[in-house]
Amino acid sequence: MNEAVKTWRIIDILKVSEKLLGEKGIDSPRLNAELLLCNTLNSERMKLYLDFEKPLTQSELDNYRIKIKRRLNREPLQYITGSAGFYGLSFEVNPSVLIPRPETELLVEKSLDFIKKRRLENPKLLEIGTGSGCISIAIASSITCEIDAVDISNDALMVAQINSETNNTTPKITFRNKDLFNDIQSLAGYDLIISNPPYIALDEIQGLQEEVKDFEPLGALTDNKDGLEFYRKIIELAKYSDGITNILLEVGDGKKEEVESLLHKNKITKYEFYKDLLKTDRVLHLEI
Ligand SMILES: C[S@@+](CC[C@H](N)C(=O)[O-])C[C@H]1O[C@@H](n2cnc3c(N)ncnc32)[C@H](O)[C@@H]1O
Repeated sequence: MNEAVKTWRIIDILKVSEKLLGEKGIDSPRLNAELLLCNTLNSERMKLYLDFEKPLTQSELDNYRIKIKRRLNREPLQYITGSAGFYGLSFEVNPSVLIPRPETELLVEKSLDFIKKRRLENPKLLEIGTGSGCISIAIASSITCEIDAVDISNDALMVAQINSETNNTTPKITFRNKDLFNDIQSLAGYDLIISNPPYIALDEIQGLQEEVKDFEPLGALTDNKDGLEFYRKIIELAKYSDGITNILLEVGDGKKEEVESLLHKNKITKYEFYKDLLKTDRVLHLEI
């Protein structure tokens, strides 16, 4: 006699995968299970609740199991689903780009505040290390502007270009393959320079979550030194560029003191740190 094949309803598979993810120590296991199922079924979260009793087809089940396995292996949810939200927009992501972080939205907000306060019409911006393009695209989707967005990684720039197209910002942003340390000689001619640089010191990498250290691009995380190389180079370039340069930089957790002592060493007095929602000093405004 044939054994009855087990039918997996949405509610059953969610319960089992929540348990497995939880046992592996993955944060928010239920949310992860639901978002991976939404991605598999190409459906909204609300629809899952309405369809709790609905059985999955074999191919949906096979697909979902592959995704859960990847997540159990600590691969970030966003690389599995291929997308991440940032500043209310949707971005394609893959392992050649850093996953956009919510705290980086403060850099977008402060850039827009700066442009508004100075009443800049059609400002010219330079973003150093654009990655997925999330910062430049978020700014360009809010105002009229011209942005040069550069990155050392061609693979990242390809993702950024796609994101710019899907978010309808292509006429405003030019993506270029440039190495800050070799290809940029001056910051003159820009109203604002922005960057979320690789600011994790090389010796801190091992202490990061597996999702980050084993999957995100190392070149987006660290400068392979003390985490301050990008700040040093940008300050040096600003000092030798004609005119006043305004710069907004993201700052790593607990890095304020180190960055501030770099400013003192360079005799920079016009600067301000802004805190994020968790009261961490997150964005630095420099006028050099
Ligand atoms: C922390 S990620 C920021 C990505 C994106 N802007 C964001 O906020 O999500 C830093 C980016 O800098 C790029 N990068 C690393 N070294 C660079 C260099 N020497 N010149 C230009 N870009 C560089 C990396 O490829 C990476 O995309």
